[in-house]
Amino acid sequence: MKGERPVTPTFPRAARLGGVVLSVCLAAAIPALAEDPKPQEQPPAANEPAKETPAENPQGAYVGSEACAACHEEVVNGHARTAHGRTQAKTLSGAAGCESCHGPGGAHVESQGDPKKIRRPRLLPAAEQSAICLSCHERGEQVHWQGSPHEGRGLSCLTCHKIHHPADAPVPAHLLLKQTEFDTCGTCHLKRKASLMRSAHMPLREGTMTCSSCHNAHGTISVALLRQDSINENCYSCHAEKRAPMLWEHPPVRENCLTCHDPHGSLHPRMQIAKQPRMCQQCHDEARHPTQPYSDAAGGPEFFPNSRMFDRGCVNCHSQIHGSNHPAGMRFLR
Ligand code: HEC
Ligand code: HEC
Ligand code: HEC
Ligand code: HEC
Ligand code: HEC
Ligand code: HEC
Ligand code: HEC
Ligand code: HEC
Ligand code: HEC
Ligand code: HEC
Repeated sequence: MKGERPVTPTFPRAARLGGVVLSVCLAAAIPALAEDPKPQEQPPAANEPAKETPAENPQGAYVGSEACAACHEEVVNGHARTAHGRTQAKTLSGAAGCESCHGPGGAHVESQGDPKKIRRPRLLPAAEQSAICLSCHERGEQVHWQGSPHEGRGLSCLTCHKIHHPADAPVPAHLLLKQTEFDTCGTCHLKRKASLMRSAHMPLREGTMTCSSCHNAHGTISVALLRQDSINENCYSCHAEKRAPMLWEHPPVRENCLTCHDPHGSLHPRMQIAKQPRMCQQCHDEARHPTQPYSDAAGGPEFFPNSRMFDRGCVNCHSQIHGSNHPAGMRFLR
């Protein structure tokens, strides 16, 4: 039982092929635009009106889930293995089981299965899709959904979640659309997904962490959907030792960990945003530790490079770069 697809039988084959080639080209161009991801699975646009009127109750009375099993055995069997199949939860209007999402099934059953007489969530606009789910899930993790960046950009609960899964396939954790969260988020956030493939990264692609270790995709009151109140609070939640008050503080560390690190991964060791020594030299003058042998900064005739010249091992000596508690640690050497 598939949803209707618009078909254009009279459309010339050649023109259709042209269309395919064009869309392939467009698809290939999308990764370049990954900075500003567009929802790839757009919910039905305004020009595709809801095929039913959810307002009153055009669908007859509630008949209970057992009635559905008579004709939708496969769906019912698959559904029984999911969290929803196991729950007895009811919506405020008293609906439970299949009808808690699909609305009363009376008219649909009486008509021997007229698909127009049952609520088909996929055909609804995004906000109405989400409203079905929010009738039970408006608290906890989802409490800030309204007004969140995802809600604002036309995503719905069904952009990331899939309710029905065949009985013979594994059910993804949290009923996600894809088998892993990494892939679910990765369909749109191509740039973050790509960053995590870089050499220095936190263990996301290894499966120890997920995007939701740091983000709550449903909405938060913080920046960038972070679970904590600030970026540093986010980092401290796992790297607690970096929080400790230090005798000698390195100001950028307290200010923002991302001054030096990219949380999604980088090509430089320890996820630094740039290569040493340039990373440090964004702020520290080259004069004291010249890194170019024969420059003015080296302060000597060409063949006598400065004796304090160091190349790129700043943290070989300044090993306590996040701050020091040693009485003599003001240069972060110990
Ligand atoms: C008498 C058999 C019968 C019963 C009972 C029945 N259905 Fe259906 N249902 C059908 C048929 C036939 C279709 C149309 C299938 C199609 O178009 O592919 C359908 C379609 C649907 C669809 C739309 C499918 C789509 O492709 O979008 C939904 C949702 C649905 N039924 C839910 C239910 C629910 C919930 C119940 C129980 C309250 C139920 N049905 C009871 C026969 C039945
Ligand atoms: C938690 C909400 C929810 C419950 C409970 C639920 N459905 Fe659905 N159903 C959906 C959504 C959303 C879709 C759209 C596709 C999807 O996400 O899987 C859907 C799609 C369908 C379809 C269309 C076929 C398809 O895969 O697209 C049928 C038929 C259907 N449901 C029948 C049922 C029956 C029968 C039950 C009870 C055993 C049931 N549903 C319980 C939300 C629900
Ligand atoms: C009738 C109330 C109700 C409705 C409507 C409802 N849910 Fe649920 N949902 C539940 C309950 C109860 C659980 C189980 C919670 C638990 O186990 O702690 C649940 C669990 C879930 C889970 C977690 C599954 C897991 O395996 O961890 C997800 C994801 C979810 N629902 C998404 C949705 C989406 C998306 C919709 C809308 C299509 C929806 N729900 C509609 C009641 C509902
Ligand atoms: C951008 C993708 C995305 C969207 C949109 C989304 N979810 Fe989720 N959802 C997730 C991910 C990832 C998880 C698992 C990690 C977590 O718990 O945050 C999850 C987990 C859940 C859970 C199980 C955890 C819990 O809260 O107990 C429920 C229930 C749920 N979502 C409901 C919803 C509802 C309702 C909506 C729409 C209002 C929605 N989701 C929209 C990605 C999404
Ligand atoms: C269907 C496409 C889509 C999917 C899937 C998706 N997102 Fe998004 N996400 C967006 C869009 C669109 C924006 C808004 C971008 C903007 O406004 O610049 C966004 C914004 C964000 C932001 C930035 C919010 C801000 O305040 O700037 C974060 C963080 C984010 N998403 C995380 C996630 C995570 C984690 C997942 C997986 C659970 C996910 N997204 C899945 C489309 C998606
Ligand atoms: C270790 C924590 C962490 C993990 C894991 C993580 N992020 Fe982020 N993410 C952040 C932080 C911190 C920011 C804020 C960056 C900023 O404001 O410059 C952010 C910002 C974002 C943004 C918005 C960027 C902007 O410029 O506003 C998106 C989109 C995003 N993350 C997506 C993802 C996705 C998708 C995943 C999983 C593949 C993921 N993140 C995993 C910490 C994390
Ligand atoms: C959910 C827990 C968690 C959060 C939140 C978190 N990290 Fe991590 N981080 C880890 C884990 C786990 C590792 C891997 C440790 C290991 O391999 O020993 C790691 C490793 C690192 C590394 C070393 C990477 C390498 O290549 O060796 C850096 C740098 C780092 N994190 C910075 C940050 C920053 C900056 C933030 C805040 C934006 C942050 N982390 C937030 C769990 C977290
Ligand atoms: C001034 C730049 C800078 C800032 C700001 C900074 N770091 Fe670092 N961080 C580094 C450098 C450089 C390394 C590599 C050290 C090495 O290779 O010995 C590093 C390494 C790390 C590591 C892996 C090695 C270790 O010490 O565990 C973690 C985790 C880490 N940083 C977390 C953080 C957190 C959390 C913050 C914010 C509280 C932060 N960093 C702020 C420069 C910085
Ligand atoms: C975002 C700018 C910034 C970056 C990047 C940065 N620092 Fe600093 N650093 C500072 C500031 C500000 C101070 C405090 C200066 C003061 O107190 O006079 C400082 C202090 C120091 C000190 C203590 C000596 C002193 O003058 O107080 C050392 C050593 C140092 N930084 C080394 C490094 C190294 C090594 C790196 C690269 C891993 C680095 N810094 C990256 C801003 C930065
Ligand atoms: C071989 C060890 C070593 C290396 C490598 C090194 N430093 Fe230093 N650094 C020192 C010593 C020793 C001092 C002086 C400590 C003092 O005077 O108390 C110092 C002092 C500093 C100071 C404090 C102000 C000053 O000039 O006296 C800054 C800032 C600094 N280093 C940054 C860097 C940067 C950036 C790099 C990488 C380009 C770097 N260091 C590489 C050993 C090193």
